[in-house]
Amino acid sequence: MASNEDATSNGASLEHDRLAGTSRATKAVHGGERAGRPRVSDSLTTPIVQTATYTFQDTAELIAYQEGRYGSYEYGRYGNPTTRACEEKIRELEGAEDCLVSSSGMNAATTMLLALVPAGGHIVTTTDCYRRTRQFIQTVLPKMGISATVIDPADLAALEAALEQHDVSLFFSESPTNPYMRCVDIPRIKQLCGAKGAVVVVDSTFATPINQQALALGADLVIHSATKYLAGHNDVLAGAIAGKSELVAAVRAMHNVLGGTIDPHASYLLLRGMKTLDLRVQRQNATATDIAARLEAHPLVTRVHYPGLASHPDHAIAAAQMSGYGGVVSFEVDGDLWRTARFVDSVQLPYIAPSLGGVESLIEQPTVISYWDQGAEKRAQVGIKDNLIRFSCGIESADDIWADFEQAFAKI
Ligand SMILES: Cc1ncc(COP(=O)(O)O)c(C=O)c1O
Repeated sequence: MASNEDATSNGASLEHDRLAGTSRATKAVHGGERAGRPRVSDSLTTPIVQTATYTFQDTAELIAYQEGRYGSYEYGRYGNPTTRACEEKIRELEGAEDCLVSSSGMNAATTMLLALVPAGGHIVTTTDCYRRTRQFIQTVLPKMGISATVIDPADLAALEAALEQHDVSLFFSESPTNPYMRCVDIPRIKQLCGAKGAVVVVDSTFATPINQQALALGADLVIHSATKYLAGHNDVLAGAIAGKSELVAAVRAMHNVLGGTIDPHASYLLLRGMKTLDLRVQRQNATATDIAARLEAHPLVTRVHYPGLASHPDHAIAAAQMSGYGGVVSFEVDGDLWRTARFVDSVQLPYIAPSLGGVESLIEQPTVISYWDQGAEKRAQVGIKDNLIRFSCGIESADDIWADFEQAFAKI
């Protein structure tokens, strides 16, 4: 890998100079692409380098590569120039030392956990997280003797107790969480974990680097389901891990073995999507803020979960560490599972679908779409209510979305 990094080092530092002090909107457009990437036919856009392997002219060149004197790539599982451009862009956006892009958000999380938590280790994580992450922590990690303490996102006393009782290797939480949009106090968590040598990892998928700089707040690593806002068009799966070089290097070494490699076409879609990240997220922030306020005032809505609202339990934390509150609004309808389903079935603009963060608005009832197989008792255990709706704002007009919601409310 050292030599791969050499391949971009000159260009990367040139680029760093050019982008130094620019806004994240500018970095989203130019990061990873103005310099330090392969030059093919003077193409403005980054080429899709569709290859599984890389060639060497002779043994001397191969040895020069092995010794870091010749910058190139060796094999597709270990790196790709199109993917590297994505990694550089995310590195710029997150203010990270390095970044690894992989095939999905789950791949990023599972590879990170396998790389950084030793056999027999202990992790601390939070309630209300993406179901498959919880499943991995509860069913796969125990096979390696890895145990977990699960705390409420706001319960720092429980974190302190876990740090006292166990040799904690790693703290892992989404912020905001899925679907209740809980936020963890990243600087305080870093203070507590740092004192005990535990690595702090934040899944910042719901926030995006536009709304939250998790690393600057204290996280050692930030993770994304790049499938969501980063790619932004509901057309590709991808994951990213960014942060301190030595941690990313450890995750990359595990990734090179496990092989959750992203395809170069998918990397191109991610790269292209990220150019408009700032525009999309600003729009989604504004629309979600508007819709959340209107929902909160609606007689058929009993509760709205949006960190931008003063009524949200973590509003103060969100206000202190986020510059925008994101595009997802969860809310509870005054009714049971089927009355809530009637609302979902009555809206015309959002698609009924899992996922979030793309240009098309999506709507889902977590009970039905993510937890139907679990039964009522298990759903209650993880706090998923039958009348809960998760709405992910696209980039349509807020007024059109609200008009659609009003006609759907009229039908229930
Ligand atoms: C917060 C969060 N993290 C991770 C993931 C998993 O990402 P992917 O679907 O890209 O594997 C999701 C998916 O919904 C998510 O919401």
